[in-house]
Amino acid sequence: MKRREFITVASSIPVVIAACSPKAAKQVASPPRADGFQRVGTVADLDKNGQILAEQVAGSNKVLVVRDPMNKSKIMAVKPTCTHAGCTVLWQQNQNAFVCPCHDSKFASDGKVQQGPADEPLATYVAKLEGDSILVKVG
Ligand code: FES
Repeated sequence: MKRREFITVASSIPVVIAACSPKAAKQVASPPRADGFQRVGTVADLDKNGQILAEQVAGSNKVLVVRDPMNKSKIMAVKPTCTHAGCTVLWQQNQNAFVCPCHDSKFASDGKVQQGPADEPLATYVAKLEGDSILVKVG
């Protein structure tokens, strides 16, 4: 490979890595309603990024919401704190799993461990669609 070709290839690597990294739409949860559900975002937010990372959720701090890979009309919500050492997991669409960036633990959409070193599942929460809103109930 010639020097000019190498420089061209090397300079495009960060772009490729950034394109493969998952991103979550970050939202601040609304205060809990009388029935305990909190609004954490919209369907448009979810479909744009494939996941919503909601912060300031009563009872959990953070909640990560994705569509159920087995039934796209349903949604799943987990506490995104890795049970190994506490890093924040994100949904990796190409692996159909929540993946921890620290030591590569993987969790299924229902929170179950698929690959360690984590040996405990992610906590899961009740989640539902109500019109265009995504609602989560912790506890
Ligand atoms: S903190 Fe997630 S695998 Fe270690």
